[in-house]
Amino acid sequence: MKIAVLPGDGIGPEIVAQAVKVLKALDLNIEMTEAPIGGAGYEFAGDPLPESTLKLAKEADAVLLGAVGDWKYDKLERHLRPERGLLRIRKELNLFANLRPALLYPELASASTLKPEVVSGLDIMIVRELTGDIYFGQPRGISTLENGEREGVNTMRYSESEIRRIGKVAFDIAMKRNKKVCSVDKANVLEATELWRQVMIEISKDYPEVELSHMYVDNAAMQLIRAPKQFDVMVTGNIFGDILSDEASMLTGSIGMLPSASLDANNKGMYEPSHGSAPDIAGKDVANPLATILSAAMMLRYTFNDEANAQRIEDAVKEALAQGFRTADIWTEGCNKVGCAAMGDAVVAAL
Ligand code: IPM
Ligand code: MG
Repeated sequence: MKIAVLPGDGIGPEIVAQAVKVLKALDLNIEMTEAPIGGAGYEFAGDPLPESTLKLAKEADAVLLGAVGDWKYDKLERHLRPERGLLRIRKELNLFANLRPALLYPELASASTLKPEVVSGLDIMIVRELTGDIYFGQPRGISTLENGEREGVNTMRYSESEIRRIGKVAFDIAMKRNKKVCSVDKANVLEATELWRQVMIEISKDYPEVELSHMYVDNAAMQLIRAPKQFDVMVTGNIFGDILSDEASMLTGSIGMLPSASLDANNKGMYEPSHGSAPDIAGKDVANPLATILSAAMMLRYTFNDEANAQRIEDAVKEALAQGFRTADIWTEGCNKVGCAAMGDAVVAAL
């Protein structure tokens, strides 16, 4: 198994180090090679996605990514900013299917800002389209109008085939879960998502066992807080999925718990925590490495088809939580507050 390890910026290196430690503890036949991306890529080669990093990622079976971004790069030209490296690698590797599971570990029920009875037992899979939508649509840019005022433009667009392939991913996943898909759109206002809804209905004809429902994104944002357990699989476009997955993460206690997988049509994947680079806490050994460790478990499951070892990692995370280990973001009275590296050690010990 060839894995490209891209730690990135901010807390990226420290959380990735913990996931690497866990993978090594499994004693699998893995070859891991590191390369810079994001701000680190810019420092290395003047490019947030250096040519050598992209080559390594293309040749690997899977990519393990930390996070990108730091305020110190905010003044760079847009194409040089760290986020652009992330968007480009997603596009270059054709990683159109982003899976973001929001799962509540029972031990963390009291760490959520919502009442325990609202979130206990929560298990949602958000399927976010990742290479289309307003993130990539043309035309885009900032230009000056004839009257001298500036105008910013982005374009929301989805082709039928883009919608169809992400829809199939969502229905296939639902077949292995509770057979419910909720498609989130804004079909009452946006034509791009009116087509989205039509295509979802068409796909559903091939999945008679799956119950398809539709929800406008504003309502979905509300329902996630009001009654999140009504959801099994949610499928949505790039921008809505970006927002709803951050929202869903808070149901689980902390965004530091939310892993993700971004897959191409052949299950090659990039695995990263759903959270960002948190430059404010970088290098302080306080970040929560569990989202990254759980992303490594998703890697074993989806790219390497190794359900047993994926499960072992997830069980070890549960065990570390059951033993009372908590990073600051999920700490509650009576638990054992540990740093990033010690949390990684606790998972390895549980393994
Ligand atoms: C995410 C992040 C990225 C996105 C940023 C860093 C470009 O928020 O992975 O959700 O918007 O997709
Ligand atoms: Mg986001």
